[in-house]
Amino acid sequence: MNDRGCGGSRISEPLTNGCGRTGVANSGGVDNGDERSATERLTLRLLAVRKQTEQLVHNLSDADATVQSMPNASPAKWYLAHTTWFFETLILVPNLPGYQVFDPSYNSLFNSYYERPGSRHERSERGMLTRPTLEQVLHYRHHVDSALGALMTLAPSPQLSGLIQMGINHEQQHQELLLTDILHLFSRNPLEPAYCAQTRPECWSRRGSATGFNVYAGGLLKFGYSGTILRLTVKDLFTSATWCHSSCREVSLPIENDLNLLEMVDIGGPS
Ligand SMILES: [Fe+2]
Repeated sequence: MNDRGCGGSRISEPLTNGCGRTGVANSGGVDNGDERSATERLTLRLLAVRKQTEQLVHNLSDADATVQSMPNASPAKWYLAHTTWFFETLILVPNLPGYQVFDPSYNSLFNSYYERPGSRHERSERGMLTRPTLEQVLHYRHHVDSALGALMTLAPSPQLSGLIQMGINHEQQHQELLLTDILHLFSRNPLEPAYCAQTRPECWSRRGSATGFNVYAGGLLKFGYSGTILRLTVKDLFTSATWCHSSCREVSLPIENDLNLLEMVDIGGPS
């Protein structure tokens, strides 16, 4: 039941589409003193994440969203549809009385590795799906979003709310994969298309070089994007751990491309 990382998002902060578009509130279910009901907050979170996914493809053409750059990658259009299939198949069909499936043929096209719903289209062939078009997939999303809005008015049980939250996290997980895969696709194009026209931060405009080490005695460390520079530990490259069992050191440098990452490895492994 895993689709290259399905099941739990690492995103806990608003994610933009790289062009200044943002829209997702806290996704972790934290109560910030909001007096709205839990269902209202869940509804807002759900619709915001669904909208955000569409914003991520705002600058993509149908062709951009359809091509699959390698067997391990998936087209952006497939991600749009798969995350929608998840809500339709696992949440709406069994829980919203009278729900009309948008297109029964989508069940096998946009299933990933889930066994119970039936057959699945071969992963390496996802880039062959020139139909449905991007526009049709967006209609599919809107059909499902409308039904989700109706479902949320029915006061979903705690169990169903938990499933919806999982759907939100599942979609966020695929947002990350969508961005990763579209950048790989563009990297294969000699024209070097940009995902968006936004000027990169100043710190990205020059070739990165190590600026030194931060030494830690151990304990919980905060890694990841910090606003202007990607901070990543050498240890994190190998373990993705955020817990440093013993002393370790963190190298600070702008990450521009994989050469920078190799440079970071070259200057020292985990200590
Ligand atoms: Fe998935």
